[in-house]
Parts: sequence; structure tokens; C-alpha cells
Amino acid sequence: MEVDGLTRLPRHIAIIMDGNGRWAQQRGLMRHAGHKAGVKTVRSSVEQSVKHGIDVLTLFAFSSENWKRPKKEVSLLMDLFMVALQREVKRLKRNNVRLRIIGDRSAFSEKLQQRISAAEAETAGNDGLVLQIAANYGGRWDITQAVRRIAASVASGQLQPDHIDEDLISSELSFKDLPDPDLFIRTGGEQRISNFMLWQSAYTELYFTDAYWPEFDAEAFDQAIAFYSSRQRRFGMTGEQLQSDEE
Ligand code: IPE
Ligand code: IPE
Ligand code: MG
Repeated sequence: MEVDGLTRLPRHIAIIMDGNGRWAQQRGLMRHAGHKAGVKTVRSSVEQSVKHGIDVLTLFAFSSENWKRPKKEVSLLMDLFMVALQREVKRLKRNNVRLRIIGDRSAFSEKLQQRISAAEAETAGNDGLVLQIAANYGGRWDITQAVRRIAASVASGQLQPDHIDEDLISSELSFKDLPDPDLFIRTGGEQRISNFMLWQSAYTELYFTDAYWPEFDAEAFDQAIAFYSSRQRRFGMTGEQLQSDEE
């Protein structure tokens, strides 16, 4: 699929990488084999994003609810996260990618927290694609921590309740300095948000595919971008208004 000729590309793509477990089970493998295979798809999605000049790619790797999974799976996922962080940094640097992890990292082991900070620091000087990995992230957690900070400013007298507006709330959320996602992709066939970015996805275009995450290759990625470029984003206006703006 040719996307280079498309006029409108998303600036920010957010993906729920779902279906690893089912992909593995379908092949008679342990669920963990699916997570491992999924790392390859992370690599190809990053490469495609770099190739197309996308500004931000956000990948949902572990939700605040995923702790409810069997202990063994959680611990294998943490190990995989650790290994991937270690292994991928070189490649990210080569591709001029800046890595940042969003979510409540305080729940991770000391060692993993250190690895996260090191990987972020090592890529901090890069000015190409911003790769955000959402780990122990939840949309409700994000809004809750923002509200807590705003309430503290009100309680200390630094902020008047009248001054709380949408921009102020946005500025307390996890990626305040980046644009909201333009395109949301969920692999694995489910059509739900699963507590991903709730506030930031108010006007995001939604794309669902049955492909399991390990199957979501470069061509599938480009198909999602082609879907995006065929949408008319109206933000509450009429189609006619937008057409006359373009003329
Ligand atoms: C997504 O794949 C990865 C994580 C949530 C960590 P799943 O593990 O949810 O795979 P399915 O949905 O069970 O197939
Ligand atoms: C969403 O997938 C979270 C991630 C991909 C990290 P889940 O597999 O946890 O979502 P549900 O439970 O099916 O909604
Ligand atoms: Mg799942």
C-alpha cells in the first residue's frame, strides 16, 4: 500500500496492541510467546512511523487493570519489558526516536524504574518520532492524578476554581506538551477503549482491525493510515463549512 502520496497523515497515532494471547493460543503456544512476537510488531510500527514522518506514536503496553492477570503472566510481561528496553534503545537512537513512558511507574520494581529512566535519558536528545509507551497507564488514572494536582493548587490558594478550564485540565494530563491522538488503532477484534486515553481521544478517529497484534505488519499499519486520510474530521462543524475553508 502506498501512503506516501496521501495528503493528510496523522500527527499522533495511538495503538491498543491487543490479541497477543489469542495469537499464541491459536498456534498451540503459551500466551507469552504472543507477547514476545508482539515486540517485533512494535519495531515495525516504529519503523513505519519514522518512515512516514509521524510526530508521535503511543503504544498501550500494560493497563492499570492488567495487574489482575495471573501473577506468572504479569511477571513475564515485566521481564519482557525490561529486556525490550535494554535491547531496543540502540535502534531507537539510530532512528532518532525519543522514548518516554507514560503511566504510574511507581508500581514497578526499583530496577525497572531505573531502566525506564535510563532509556528515556539516553534518547532525550533525539528530535524525531516521540515514542510513548503507556505502561501501568489508565485513562481514569490520568484524569484522577490531574484532578488531585489541581485540587492541591486550589487548596493552597494558588488557583481559583473559576480558572479551571479545559486547557488547564489538559495541561495536567500525561502528555501535556503533545497533540491529542488523531488516529486510534486497536488490533485483536475488540471494539472498545479499555481505559486508554479517555480525555485526549475526544475527537480521535477510531480504527479497529481483527488482526492480532503479532500479525499487524507494515502493510496493515499503512492500511490504517489510509483509512485515516479518507476521513473528514468535522470537530462539530458541518461538511460544507469545511469545504468552503479549503477553497
Ligand atoms: C495485549 O494482548 C497485550 C497486553 C494486554 C499486555 P493480550 O494479552 O490482551 O492478548 P489477548 O487479548 O488475550 O489475545
Ligand atoms: C488493553 O488490552 C490493554 C493493552 C493492550 C495493554 P486488554 O486485553 O487488557 O483489554 P480488555 O481486557 O480485553 O478490555
Ligand atoms: Mg487482550
